[in-house]
Amino acid sequence: MSKETLPVESRIIPVKRLEEYWERSIEDPEGFWSEHARALQWFKTWDKVLDASNPPFYKWFVGGKINASYNALDVHIKTWRKNKVAYIWEGEPGDTRVITYYQLYKEVNRIAKILKNMGVKKGDRVTLYLPMIPELPMVMLACARIGAIHSVVFSGFSGESLASRINDSNSKILITADGAYRRGKIIPLKEWADKALKLTPSIESVIVVRRTGSKVNMVENRDYWLHELLAGIEPDTYVEPEPVESTHPLYILYTSGTTGKPKGVEHSTGGYLAWVYWTLKWAFDPREEDVWWCAADIGWVTGHSYIVYSPLMHGLTSIMYEGAPDYPHPDRWWSIIEKYGVTIIYTAPTAIRAFMRYGEEWVKKHDLSSLRILGSVGEPINPEAWNWYYKNVGGERCPIIDTWWQTETGGFMISPSAGVELAPLKPGSATFPLPGIDAEVVNDNGKRVEPGERGYLIIKKPWPGMLQTLWKDPERYVEVYYKKFPGFYYTGDYAMRDSDGYFWLLGRADEVLKVAAHRIGTTELESVLVSYPAVAEAAVAGKADPVKGEVPVAFVVLREGYSPLNSLREELVKYVRNQIGPIATPANIFFVDKLPKTRSGKIMRRLLKSVVSDQPLGDITTLEDEASVEEIKKAYDELKKELE
Ligand code: PRX
Repeated sequence: MSKETLPVESRIIPVKRLEEYWERSIEDPEGFWSEHARALQWFKTWDKVLDASNPPFYKWFVGGKINASYNALDVHIKTWRKNKVAYIWEGEPGDTRVITYYQLYKEVNRIAKILKNMGVKKGDRVTLYLPMIPELPMVMLACARIGAIHSVVFSGFSGESLASRINDSNSKILITADGAYRRGKIIPLKEWADKALKLTPSIESVIVVRRTGSKVNMVENRDYWLHELLAGIEPDTYVEPEPVESTHPLYILYTSGTTGKPKGVEHSTGGYLAWVYWTLKWAFDPREEDVWWCAADIGWVTGHSYIVYSPLMHGLTSIMYEGAPDYPHPDRWWSIIEKYGVTIIYTAPTAIRAFMRYGEEWVKKHDLSSLRILGSVGEPINPEAWNWYYKNVGGERCPIIDTWWQTETGGFMISPSAGVELAPLKPGSATFPLPGIDAEVVNDNGKRVEPGERGYLIIKKPWPGMLQTLWKDPERYVEVYYKKFPGFYYTGDYAMRDSDGYFWLLGRADEVLKVAAHRIGTTELESVLVSYPAVAEAAVAGKADPVKGEVPVAFVVLREGYSPLNSLREELVKYVRNQIGPIATPANIFFVDKLPKTRSGKIMRRLLKSVVSDQPLGDITTLEDEASVEEIKKAYDELKKELE
């Protein structure tokens, strides 16, 4: 352990005024981060805070050695937090588990031992396909402990999606469960995994967690029950945490982009941990006695950063809930808040809008006075949802921390800072960039736009939580994030600043949809659709939806000899669900004779969006690069007519 590492007690940095603090972070990033990264426990301190010699491949805390599992667990078991509760877990059927830091530490060590016994080494990839059960963070931390790279695949994805992610990461081990509870039903997760396993030659062993007791098919010498493996591991097994380089990948997480294939976002260990640690502190001001509930699924980045790594590093008590928000009744969440005295809840606007529909009487049935802060993430929060959340859930007492960020950014980027100084909130605005974030709203030429004007959101300087690259695809990393505005990170989002300098996030500027806060690429859906024998061409657009924010709508041109029957439409919807997962389900499929295209053959996507959303075309001069105004108008009218 380095002498320069501060003890846990001295991690608190006196709060300065937000602006002054932010300015320092931008003017002297190296000084700022060399102070702040010391809140973590390093086995060896870095030689250089930021290596910017090969942009955009920025490297943070170069030369430093660290371990994520050590920072999440070992640091606490040497203190009074040893028997503090790390997770209060509630299963959908109502069963509960309370897990202390010491218990978590012991389980993680034992699972790490199992992985080691299976031959998993530093740098090997392990895929996790698990529901929201405590074994999910346990296995992630066990991987981190031995320097293996985890790749968590959301348990709502299909076997096909799982297979492509396993193959891209070339994982050796798959960890899954016999089933998952969802809305009172059992999802046959192992069965879905078995479909994937037919296509994934790299997998040597499969570990299966028993959750539902469902009967599953176990292949000899490949599939092992976790509880049986654990029975062979001593309760006090200790596995030395591997001191990995700061830049060693902690995990890969696949997310949708503008091409058909999901991107493997690769996060570092040191920079990522420093970023998730500090962003939680700045944004939410977590305190020792808090009961923190990030109501996301660990299958998404929100859960990685703010259910697993950051809250554990802070030694917080977290709630983890397995099931659907409205099962068996629409007040399931409110009953959880009341039951455990949750003090901070962090969720997505789509959930709020769904609760709004059920009516406030469900909220009123519960005493939510323990809450002190509310959080929002995943999509723009509309003022109606903001006000409802503020009034009915927060009792007009709790600030709403609207955090803008992305899978790629690792942690919050633009957000109110309850932990530094809370600027007056404006419903629907994520307020200001956090320390270390130099954000700007620019036009196509990279020039800053005027207050009130819409532009593209870019980040001008590297930050510790930034993705390192895309797994095995550095060219695509440069192309996607650094080509549009050379030298700057392009977020793919529209934004606006108002005359007070507040940031307003205005949704995606690219071909990515946010469906119930989940990210899904229109081209990903299109490539699935065209893989169906009857489909010649397909185009997908997002349609505004009062609860989900957006839903995908598909336009399909059939091959010769196929008729536009309702049965075919249903077949196609089912096919997409099976190929990707329920989140990709098209809300509607229109059979059309041709797709509106520019002369060079590009689909006029914004036109499709206007058509499905029943909106006027708006400013057509900037609608498509190549098509003439007349052409676009004609295509729009033709399409509208065809759909009537
Ligand atoms: O469009 C933005 C939207 O979600 C995108 C990132 O999606 P994903 O990588 O799945 O990460 C979601 C969780 C961090 C962004 O490009 N987004 C996320 N948070 C907000 C948001 N849009 C507006 N306001 C937010 N608070």
